[in-house]
Amino acid sequence: MAEEITPFQVAPKTPLAGSAAADIRDQGEITRRSFPLVLTTAWVALAAALGGLASILGRFMFPNVLFEPVQKFKAGFLNDYTVGAVDERWKEKYGIWLVRNEKVMYALIAVCTHLGCTPNWLESQNKFKCPCHGSGYYRTGVNFEGPAPRPLERAKIFLDPADGQIVVDKSVQFHQERGEWTNPDSFIKT
Ligand code: FES
Repeated sequence: MAEEITPFQVAPKTPLAGSAAADIRDQGEITRRSFPLVLTTAWVALAAALGGLASILGRFMFPNVLFEPVQKFKAGFLNDYTVGAVDERWKEKYGIWLVRNEKVMYALIAVCTHLGCTPNWLESQNKFKCPCHGSGYYRTGVNFEGPAPRPLERAKIFLDPADGQIVVDKSVQFHQERGEWTNPDSFIKT
């Protein structure tokens, strides 16, 4: 007759057959041996996940906004500029020369029409000279030497009706070779 087991008793362990016990022992050893590998994998996965999260957070905090350079600026009053001079005060900040003569003032864009370098104004030689391949331009902006294929461009220029200041707008450009330098937006009468 089979022995009766009360609810609080643990069933007697049945001895395992020899090969089954060996299998379980082996499985236990494999698990212990592979533990560092599993741990490393987990850390790598965690690091990758955190990296991805940081990247997403970074994109959120610093959105991919393109900061365009300022195209339009106020340049003071006509009387701030000497007649007959090429004024360089806005060259570094806005890439513009303001040239005033007896009759008009115009804004030359300081970008060589060959490959886009920034020319220099050479007062002693009365010309703009590009340091890259030697193009030369008269003070009007018309090219006369070197590989530049056409004159410098001029930017829109006008007097602000509100305060009388000169305003230069580089987003509107005038090309001499297209006959645009006669456009009244390309100069101010002085
Ligand atoms: S970029 Fe000015 S001459 Fe070539």
